[in-house]
Amino acid sequence: MAQNWTPGSWRQKPIQQVPEYPDAAALAATEATLATYPPLVFAGEARRLKKQLANVAEGNAFLLQGGDCAESFLEHGADNIRDFFRAFLQMAVVLTYGAQLPVVKVGRIAGQFAKPRSSNVEVLDGVTLPSYRGDIINGIEFNEGSRIPSPERQLDAYRQSAATLNLLRAFAMGGYANLENVHQWMLGFIKDSPQADRYRKLADRISETMDFMKAIGISAENNPSLRETDFFTSHEALLLGYEEALTRIDSTSGDWYATSGHMIWIGDRTRQLDHAHVEYFRGIKNPIGLKCGPSLTPDNLIELIDALNPANEAGRLTLICRFGHDKVADSLPKLIRAVEKEGRKVVWSCDPMHGNTITLNHYKTRPFERILSEVESFFQIHRAEGTHPGGIHIEMTGKDVTECTGGARAVTADSLSDRYHTHCDPRLNADQALELAFLLSERMKSGRDEKRLAIANA
Ligand code: PEP
Ligand code: CO
Repeated sequence: MAQNWTPGSWRQKPIQQVPEYPDAAALAATEATLATYPPLVFAGEARRLKKQLANVAEGNAFLLQGGDCAESFLEHGADNIRDFFRAFLQMAVVLTYGAQLPVVKVGRIAGQFAKPRSSNVEVLDGVTLPSYRGDIINGIEFNEGSRIPSPERQLDAYRQSAATLNLLRAFAMGGYANLENVHQWMLGFIKDSPQADRYRKLADRISETMDFMKAIGISAENNPSLRETDFFTSHEALLLGYEEALTRIDSTSGDWYATSGHMIWIGDRTRQLDHAHVEYFRGIKNPIGLKCGPSLTPDNLIELIDALNPANEAGRLTLICRFGHDKVADSLPKLIRAVEKEGRKVVWSCDPMHGNTITLNHYKTRPFERILSEVESFFQIHRAEGTHPGGIHIEMTGKDVTECTGGARAVTADSLSDRYHTHCDPRLNADQALELAFLLSERMKSGRDEKRLAIANA
């Protein structure tokens, strides 16, 4: 167990990005209430995910992590959750087929509510108000009342997470994810999209394979791995009071686990070694992520790995790299070399979203070609270094939004306003997400073929 650590030891450390709650007693009362609520996830599930991530760290699987930048209270409908899950499953199928590796599925969902902000204030038409920090903290409406942090929101976020998780578990285990449904996952709007044909062809091949397997006696009925899928949840654990209240001892191992989600990560703005977030994370046993931006030096990174994964356990730590298409070539190789030199076991994942945000027509957006370019560089660099490009971390939705420009059905600067719905950062729409999955799948397929060729020629 981590030395001198308790679920609340982070309170003694300096902290970034925390809201000022006006009523400390009300906040403490809410946290005390949350501490009596049931855990949202079970430690055994977090261990199962860690095992699957260890497989990724060893080069034998691929991590797909994605979902909203920020979940919202207003958009908590079954349709949203289903559309997201469906788009995510489609991506996973495309990736599994391309990589011929298991795909570990982790949503940014059922808890992704608290947002770090680059500025403490937002200015609109000469009026200055505190920034929106996610529905778990304050309201997005631009008025003074809504921007005051309210502890009650933590209870709403907990309940929404529980309900979302419940539906996701049902989808994953109750038949929706059955591979026999691979054709039915076609989204309405994707039918006439440039990705539709590619997806239909792939679905046909999977169906054919399933028919063949059925003929020899292997079917979804007698084989749960065709009928069910593992789906895990994750979020940025920014609001540490909420996380502390849901930190529980696992009775089977005696270890502490964050039970707000299976995997949690530290944001790029809160990864200071001697600060509160690193302190909290070092004591819990879940698989965790660490966002790595351009300001992270190789020495910093090794110190953080020492603090967060001292036992060098594979699957414990995922490095989520978010440099930007123009910085990745400069930033990533030196981090990979430091980690390799020290023999640290990590999952390397690429977040091609957060380093590629620009403003167009007053909208925050991300050009799809820059997202693809960062992903391409990430793969090339890993190939050159001889390491495994283990995963991808994206902001996406199952809806036909217009938030990122580009893609095969080009969203233009002028069409951003058509369906711009995000509460925070711009997300890939379902079409763009699937296009990205096809590109990744081609990269992984060619990597696989190269490896086979090398073995054959050896
Ligand atoms: C995010 O993932 O939404 C985020 C804020 O990322 P980062 O910490 O990498 O900026
Ligand atoms: Co974001």
